[in-house]
Amino acid sequence: MNDIGVILLAAGQGTRMKSSLPKVLHCLGGTPLFLHVLQTAQRLAPSTVAVIVGHGAPAVQRAYAGGDVTWVLQEKQLGTGHAVLCAKGLFQGFTGDVLILSGDVPLITESTLKGVVAHHRAQGAVITLLTASLENPAGYGRILRDSQKNITSIVEEKDAAEVQKQIREVNAGVYVVAAPFLFAALAGINNRNRQGEYYLPDIVDIGLRQGGTVATMAVDDAREMMGINTREELATMEKSLQERINRKWMAAGVTLKDPLTAYIEDGVTIGQDTVIGPNTHLCGATVIGEGCRIDGSAYLTDAQLGDQVRLRFSVVLTSCRVDNGAIIGPFAHLRPGTALGRNVHIGNFVETKEAQIGAGTKANHLTYLGDVAIGQETNIGAGTITCNYDGFHKYKTKIGDRVQVGSDSTLVAPVSLGDDVYVATATTVRHDIPDGALVFNDRQERVREGWTEQKRVKMKGTKK
Ligand code: UD1
Ligand code: CA
Repeated sequence: MNDIGVILLAAGQGTRMKSSLPKVLHCLGGTPLFLHVLQTAQRLAPSTVAVIVGHGAPAVQRAYAGGDVTWVLQEKQLGTGHAVLCAKGLFQGFTGDVLILSGDVPLITESTLKGVVAHHRAQGAVITLLTASLENPAGYGRILRDSQKNITSIVEEKDAAEVQKQIREVNAGVYVVAAPFLFAALAGINNRNRQGEYYLPDIVDIGLRQGGTVATMAVDDAREMMGINTREELATMEKSLQERINRKWMAAGVTLKDPLTAYIEDGVTIGQDTVIGPNTHLCGATVIGEGCRIDGSAYLTDAQLGDQVRLRFSVVLTSCRVDNGAIIGPFAHLRPGTALGRNVHIGNFVETKEAQIGAGTKANHLTYLGDVAIGQETNIGAGTITCNYDGFHKYKTKIGDRVQVGSDSTLVAPVSLGDDVYVATATTVRHDIPDGALVFNDRQERVREGWTEQKRVKMKGTKK
């Protein structure tokens, strides 16, 4: 939009959260609160975006990777009016409108923001603010109106008289203000109120006193202007965001066996006819293909699954790729750098890390595969361990195609096994093995007949 600047307020501590983390860094749907607002604001293509930071400023700045915002430090959090005033220098000579947003109102939509800017311009107003009528207005600033229904002022909950607290129309904390007026007016506000803060809403009184137009616009869906001030509000909003995301995926052809326990973050995509069981968490940039089946109790972060992948009960997948038709679990842990080819089977109590595993290979039981490249159609027996770490460095293991690794084998890296190698049960492999070879450790097997009975006789009566 033309001539629009943005000021995003994110300096407050959020005392009511009772947290060492700044409030705006608490996550909703896996994304810090203020980033929801920032991303939405950026869709308006503003000429300048100022983010006011203060409490935990370095951490807040680290949470945003983009370089297209100006961080403005508000050293002491003296109130929302003071916070906006901190950006004055940045808007020197700017004659457009400033959209002021709060970092703790994460669900505000692009269309509402565009609507309020358009309304402001159509009204020729100096200030336009977004309002909502709430069933329970507690905690919000109340909109005071005269008999003609024109806004006269905003009173904060803590300063409100009992009758004013009955008012259900509230200030959503979203404002469009003509820049020259804004910074001049802010110089005129004071902190003579119950909280001893410089209130941004006090510019309403100043605008009216100067004979300017103060316009209001009611938000269509009050849910999008809800602010987060407490953990309970955060949990409630998380739930409603979850419902919104889940409805979207069900409408797109995904079965959620229990939508109440399907936790799908915003950045996730899921293919049609995938079935998702209870207590499944899909986080980050996870991508699930078509026709997959996730039995339940799964925790996926930045995982990419092809089509027809089956995740059996209880698996954790982090930063890994899984090709079509693979079967994983129950109780498997795929760690970063895992890449599974088509139809790979990873079974019970198997852990992988930096493991490239070729098509059709199976590791079904009790195995650790770390820093390893395995070919196709290989079978890794129960209890196989890649010994990749000597306490100082990590080393690689290479295993070829069609290899049979017998149960209880240890592969001491760095080591390479060629194609068609056969590792006998309980072998410790320390040297590279050529294609087609058998490897085993010499170990004599001795049998003593009748030994058990002799032992029992000898030990009789000695048990404590
Ligand atoms: C504010 C409004 C209230 C409105 C509500 C909507 C004021 C005085 N009141 O109340 O009318 O109904 O939002 O959600 O503005 N912040 C700073 N620096 C400060 C103080 C706050 O950056 O010195 C930031 C906070 O980090 C937060 C935002 O401003 O993101 C709002 O502050 P908060 O204390 O939550 O205001 P509310 O009491 O919710
Ligand atoms: Ca708030």
